Amino acid sequence: MAKKFLSDIKTLRKRARAHIEKGAVTDGYRAKRDTVLKILNEALATEIVCVLRYKRHYFMASGIHAQAVAAEFLEHANEEQGHADQLSERITQLGGAPDLNPQNLAARSHSEYVEGTTLIDMLQENLVAERVAIESYSEMIRYIGDKDPTSRRLLEEILAVEEEHAEDLKTLLETLPHEVRTPHKA
Ligand SMILES: [Fe+2]
Ligand SMILES: [Fe+2]
Repeated sequence: MAKKFLSDIKTLRKRARAHIEKGAVTDGYRAKRDTVLKILNEALATEIVCVLRYKRHYFMASGIHAQAVAAEFLEHANEEQGHADQLSERITQLGGAPDLNPQNLAARSHSEYVEGTTLIDMLQENLVAERVAIESYSEMIRYIGDKDPTSRRLLEEILAVEEEHAEDLKTLLETLPHEVRTPHKA
């Protein structure tokens, strides 16, 4: 006999009615909520550190080639802030609290806050950070599997944007003239 795909409607309704204080989190939630919340808070810390690093680079970018690069840094900073907000929203939906305590951010962030001095340093540091983010989002997605489709979809959407960011930075690095790309050589 074929396995029944859905619970019968009476059971579904009964389960939805129980624990209504849990909001979006129902008995059908299959993931380990504490672990998912921890993962989402780490992603949040990563995004905030990325906002700060991109903002710093946006204001500090200087030189003849700075304008296009700075514009890209600002665009990325704003998109990382958007990711931070989406993650915070999902954390609260799951009954958690977004950890925005400045003292915890650097410790939990997967990417680093590196200031860099030249335009090239900044581009490279941001590319490294994006590559870290790509790896960690991919791992989170694999961990969640099919146990929390909404968190998974959010992480997949963010991952796609981080991949675009990495590609943008790679293109900028490639299009900078050779003398800018080798700033430390005489
Ligand atoms: Fe992001
Ligand atoms: Fe990014």
